[in-house]
Amino acid sequence: MSPEVHSFFDPATNTISHIVRDPGSLACAVIDSVMDIDYAAGRITTSHADEMIAFIRAKGWVLEWLIETHVHADHLSAAPYIQAALGGKIGIGAQITVVQEVFGKIFNEGTEFQRDGSQFDALFQDGDTYQIGALTARAIHTPGHTPACMTHVMGDAAFVGDTLFMPDGGSARADFPGGDAGQLYDSMQKILALPDQTRLFMCHDYGPNGRDIRWETTVAEERAHNIHLAGRTREEFIAMREARDATLAVPKLIIPSLQVNMRAGEIPTDSAGRPMLKVPINGL
Ligand SMILES: [Fe+2]
Repeated sequence: MSPEVHSFFDPATNTISHIVRDPGSLACAVIDSVMDIDYAAGRITTSHADEMIAFIRAKGWVLEWLIETHVHADHLSAAPYIQAALGGKIGIGAQITVVQEVFGKIFNEGTEFQRDGSQFDALFQDGDTYQIGALTARAIHTPGHTPACMTHVMGDAAFVGDTLFMPDGGSARADFPGGDAGQLYDSMQKILALPDQTRLFMCHDYGPNGRDIRWETTVAEERAHNIHLAGRTREEFIAMREARDATLAVPKLIIPSLQVNMRAGEIPTDSAGRPMLKVPINGL
């Protein structure tokens, strides 16, 4: 089963969102959608999400799922906005509760912020399956970048979130709270254990060394050429990843992204019900 995949690149955050369609029906899923934000201005806009909505409408497809591979720290999810337009269920890994616990504390959220994942329509455990029309999707727990990261396998396609990057990009960082370079290595090996010709779809690409942006590769390509894995033991990978992470800047949109994405993409409100974000000082 080879699902049809259409991908949308957001140059502001280097995020790739995907629409996946069951080849046997009109059913589709959106993976890792993006809401536009001008953080300096406190302004949220929807052109990226509107483009995906218009695409699905023009095709006459039926949106069944909005999948978050994890709680992103570098962009806001547009899942609730797209859901309001097209329907579908929002799903994420069950370990979202760990992420909500950690960042609930950091953002000093009150008791009204539930830490049980109930903001989402579905919480996936490792190995859970779900249907997109006749296409069976399987969620694999691939933690390391964050505790709740899942890879979603749909026929011969896998959406890896932030685990692997393209072979010349290596791997995602593992230094966020709850991240772990050793777990990331183990998760990358799980992905590389999929069949050789599995199409792998990235969540991010930064065009290393000036090459054009790309987001699709295969298990065979990654196994042969991933620059962070090739020729390295698990211990060597961990040492490389931790040394590299120590040099990386904090993502520009981490503060708004976490507050919104841990709520399944809903913007928090103040006591008067107005949309409002917090900035913990020296708290991250
Ligand atoms: Fe991420």
